[in-house]
Amino acid sequence: MDPAPAEPTPTAPSSAPVRFFATAAKGTEPALRDELRELRFSGVRADRGGVHFEGTLREGYRACLWSRIAMRVLMPLATFDAANERFLYDGVRAVDLEPFLTPRHTLVVGASCRSSRLTHTEYLSQLTKDAVVDRLRDRFGSRPNVDKKDPDVRLFLHLVNDVATLYLDLAGEPLNRRGFRPGGAEAPLKETLAAAVLRYSGWDRKSAIVDPFCGSATLLVEAGLWAQNRAPGLSRARFGFERWARFDRTEKDVFEAQRAEARAALVRDLPPLIGRDTSEQALTLARSAASRAALPLVLELGPARDALVAGAGAVVANPPYGKRLARPAELARDLAYLVDRHPNAHVAFLLAETQPMGRTRRRPEPPRHVFNGDLPCVVRCWLPRRRRGDG
Ligand SMILES: C[S@@+](CC[C@H](N)C(=O)[O-])C[C@H]1O[C@@H](n2cnc3c(N)ncnc32)[C@H](O)[C@@H]1O
Repeated sequence: MDPAPAEPTPTAPSSAPVRFFATAAKGTEPALRDELRELRFSGVRADRGGVHFEGTLREGYRACLWSRIAMRVLMPLATFDAANERFLYDGVRAVDLEPFLTPRHTLVVGASCRSSRLTHTEYLSQLTKDAVVDRLRDRFGSRPNVDKKDPDVRLFLHLVNDVATLYLDLAGEPLNRRGFRPGGAEAPLKETLAAAVLRYSGWDRKSAIVDPFCGSATLLVEAGLWAQNRAPGLSRARFGFERWARFDRTEKDVFEAQRAEARAALVRDLPPLIGRDTSEQALTLARSAASRAALPLVLELGPARDALVAGAGAVVANPPYGKRLARPAELARDLAYLVDRHPNAHVAFLLAETQPMGRTRRRPEPPRHVFNGDLPCVVRCWLPRRRRGDG
């Protein structure tokens, strides 16, 4: 991520423009860029690790409420030279954080760095935290405490080429936490990555969608939310920005109006959302996720290979990863079989990079490289035959 230019944001009224940075899993930036454009944000530009966009602070609230792919929404508070400890400390200490943070609040500071003289991220976050609390102690006579688990305010210091940018996080808990996931799922997919895979698939959100390796049904739940035009943030109890000092009655009303607008935009009709898995335990988790999300998933016990849904508009899957899989060659053959069995469907498979793929009668789209956590993966897509013919 390149540091955004410093913006006069902290004390500005809610209508002042901000250049936000929405973070995303590596490789999903183009999907997030397209999503933010579709959501009518302006100044949208993909970058390494996320997407820049512009708008008022309230547009930042709206991004948290609506983005399916962003992990966090960050607001730059200041950019300054930080070639040494003194510069860093003074730069942070000069930032007016009082609109967000008082001694009554708790905070946490994260840090990252690249190509800079200061290299220890833990030390960077410590120094940043010291500068923040020293400033507030001077101002108020007492200091805010650190809470690593559930802080009111999250700050990130990003250092590149000795230039630091201090960011304030709007999201709080990462945005992938929708609140539907039951505990205990094995190798669950992050909701935000699932949403990116769905977007890459080209699915029309109206036709039946099948996940033959559904596990706890993350892809199908995301598909259901998207088909319903349901803002993923509607199910969240609270976002980070709702805990800021400046989030007063007026801001509450503004955000409540955004939530009401999102509820009014809900589409009730749903296409069939069909999942299969060979594990009864996985299907129990899928049923629980479906019920929490109030989505009518059709779930079947059985091998992926036997999945055949006439008229399916999309087949999406995150099959087991090579690391744990005894027979990747067999999986390669099954995946190719599924592609050929659904010639008129959009197909998208999220695979470990090492997973081979069998030969298909259809030509795949160029692979998209993404990261699932630390695991290098690839999204392989096929367009429907009919659509190729049309084009
Ligand atoms: C990586 S997990 C899928 C995770 C899922 N996307 C989620 O978010 O929970 C792969 C799933 O494939 C299932 N599986 C393995 N072999 C299968 C097969 N031949 N047919 C159907 N499901 C299979 C496993 O039981 C597991 O639930």
